Amino acid sequence: MRISKIKSGLAAATLAVSMMVSPAVFAGGHAASEDSGSSADVYKDRSDAMKVLGGNIKTLSDMLFGQAEYDSAKALEASQAMNAVASSDVAALFPEGTMEPPSEALPIIWEEWDEFNAILADFATSTAALEAAAADGTDTKDAVQGAFMAVGGACQTCHKKFRKEES
Ligand code: HEC
Repeated sequence: MRISKIKSGLAAATLAVSMMVSPAVFAGGHAASEDSGSSADVYKDRSDAMKVLGGNIKTLSDMLFGQAEYDSAKALEASQAMNAVASSDVAALFPEGTMEPPSEALPIIWEEWDEFNAILADFATSTAALEAAAADGTDTKDAVQGAFMAVGGACQTCHKKFRKEES
């Protein structure tokens, strides 16, 4: 399902994601991380996925908050790239105990795994809404802005509890 959904997305979004995220991110399930051989791959796949989120959320926030001209095609592309990551098996990028420095993952991820996954589910809902808002016609900036705030809230909710504070 996930793979076909990604394949059916616009070529631009697929390209943006495939350039930045290794296929293992979308392979799903725990087999992906076990097959990858070394835990270094887990950290890299995780980091790549988060960086896709970070890069695209910046593209959107720049356009929504006056740092760049709003461009609805670019907004859609960024929203699709984020939704592709959020609707992939992000939990599989967090095998139990993978928090060796310099990882910023906190042990509470596995102690409160259900909550971590609940936030991931909310996050995927919010990115789907963002993609729908961005896809809905040309005069969409306000709707995208509202949906964007929900997505940003999900990033923050998770980072606040489950990621080490940046020093
Ligand atoms: C369900 C939890 C969760 C959600 C949702 C989440 N993140 Fe993260 N993110 C993490 C964790 C945990 C780390 C630390 C991972 C590590 O260092 O091993 C992280 C790390 C990052 C990093 C650093 C990556 C690196 O290696 O430099 C960026 C950038 C990032 N997240 C951006 C985002 C953005 C933007 C969003 C929302 C659009 C988001 N994240 C949503 C949990 C989450």
